[in-house]
Amino acid sequence: MSRILLTLYTVILLHQARSDDAVEFKAINSELFALFGDSVWLNCSTPNPKTYFESRLFTKDNAKGSNWVAREVVVDDWEISTMYCYLSPDIDDIKRPITVMAYALPSNVTIDMQPLLKEGEESTITCTVHDVAPQELLTINITRGGDVIDSKSYGGPHVLQRRTVGRVYTFTASRGDNNMNFSCEAILQLGREQKRTKSPDITVQTYGKLFLSESLTDLGRRVGEGAG
Ligand SMILES: *[C@@H]1O[C@H](CO)[C@@H](O)[C@H](O)[C@H]1NC(C)=O
Ligand SMILES: *[C@@H]1O[C@H](CO)[C@@H](O)[C@H](O)[C@H]1NC(C)=O
Ligand SMILES: *[C@@H]1O[C@H](CO)[C@@H](O)[C@H](O)[C@H]1NC(C)=O
Ligand SMILES: *[C@@H]1O[C@H](CO)[C@@H](O)[C@H](O)[C@H]1NC(C)=O
Repeated sequence: MSRILLTLYTVILLHQARSDDAVEFKAINSELFALFGDSVWLNCSTPNPKTYFESRLFTKDNAKGSNWVAREVVVDDWEISTMYCYLSPDIDDIKRPITVMAYALPSNVTIDMQPLLKEGEESTITCTVHDVAPQELLTINITRGGDVIDSKSYGGPHVLQRRTVGRVYTFTASRGDNNMNFSCEAILQLGREQKRTKSPDITVQTYGKLFLSESLTDLGRRVGEGAG
């Protein structure tokens, strides 16, 4: 009997960002990500009127229909919270876990590098992602002319609170870097969804012996053409 009940019931989450702008999705053994401080509706569809929720998060509101029970919780805790919807109060096994995790978008993503580079010499790019959470879901990509030249995913155990995360990348400048745009991007991987924040672009100029001699060759050719 319990098996049958289990397959009949579904847990539906309503992620309510603002007013009626609700996104509905199924959440069987699923994770939910919410901006720190936001509230989310958790909707458990069940014909059992005794269905109840168990949550360590603050409850803002409750709602009930003939075949569903919903609760609005405030996600203001950096700990990962597992909420349960008990589909049958008498059979403890029949519960659906929902993992709720708070995140914070970076307040800023900055890039530091010299805009004038000498070809053949080492150069450094420093990316800083300010006040982001959680760190273990963060990737920092450094791009040159739109191509990723460095990628760092942090991973690891759950980190509480916002963090400022820095990434340093060293490379040898070449003529190909001339007039190229460099930038840093912070990517938070929230389940299947990605939240991306980009730094401003830095447009690089390079100089070196090669550049100079080729320019002179070009100049020489043009002068020659003009004369001939
Ligand atoms: C909960 O889900 C049911 C069925 O999916 C829906 O009819 C009801 O409006 C939802 N309740 C809330 C508060 O969104
Ligand atoms: C981001 O950082 C840059 C460089 O430090 C600064 O100029 C800019 O004002 C910052 N922007 C915000 C929104 O904090
Ligand atoms: C970040 O870089 C990695 C490795 O190159 C790449 O797989 C991923 O698609 C990049 N992410 C974005 C959002 O560009
Ligand atoms: C480089 O960045 C600047 C400033 O963001 C932009 O105006 C320019 O179009 C970019 N150049 C290329 C080739 O993308």
